Amino acid sequence: MQFEDIVEEKYLGELSFITAGELMIRGSSLKYMEETRYPGTGWLLVEFSTSVTWIETLFQLKRLIDKGYSPLLAHPERYRWCRRKKSRLIKLSKMGCGTMVSARSLMFEKYAATARCLLREGLCHILCSDAHSAHDYILDSRLKDKVDKVSKVPWHIITNEMPERILNDMKLPILPLLNRRKSK
Ligand SMILES: [Fe+2]
Repeated sequence: MQFEDIVEEKYLGELSFITAGELMIRGSSLKYMEETRYPGTGWLLVEFSTSVTWIETLFQLKRLIDKGYSPLLAHPERYRWCRRKKSRLIKLSKMGCGTMVSARSLMFEKYAATARCLLREGLCHILCSDAHSAHDYILDSRLKDKVDKVSKVPWHIITNEMPERILNDMKLPILPLLNRRKSK
């Protein structure tokens, strides 16, 4: 048996893949929502320009919700309105939005402190790798050790349980997630 066959039998045989997109929301266009949403769900991964205002973000997310979608906000730590007032993510979660911190943000001085703070205060539903290159974090034990030092929410919740909810088209809990560890 070749190495490739072993890998395929041991790992790939148990995996299935779906593809979705990260939709940049700007202006009045709401094109490509159907093409980019997580298949079989109403969840849609969205991002904005880093200079977007809080009011514009609220307005745009509300428009998506009114269209019947559930927005999952990518890397909130990169938006000025979030860095200024992180509790705004609680309001978004009450509207039905999810929030997803990028591990890649931990590598940028400008975003790392806010990313750590969101993890520490349970103000994100999901942690993703957002890996763009071989130098970026992936969801392995090295990242887990780093995140466990700051996050009060268990690793498996933000990297497994919450993403699974998205794929099953379920709602996400209202933030913060702090009390989930105590309630277990
Ligand atoms: Fe992005």
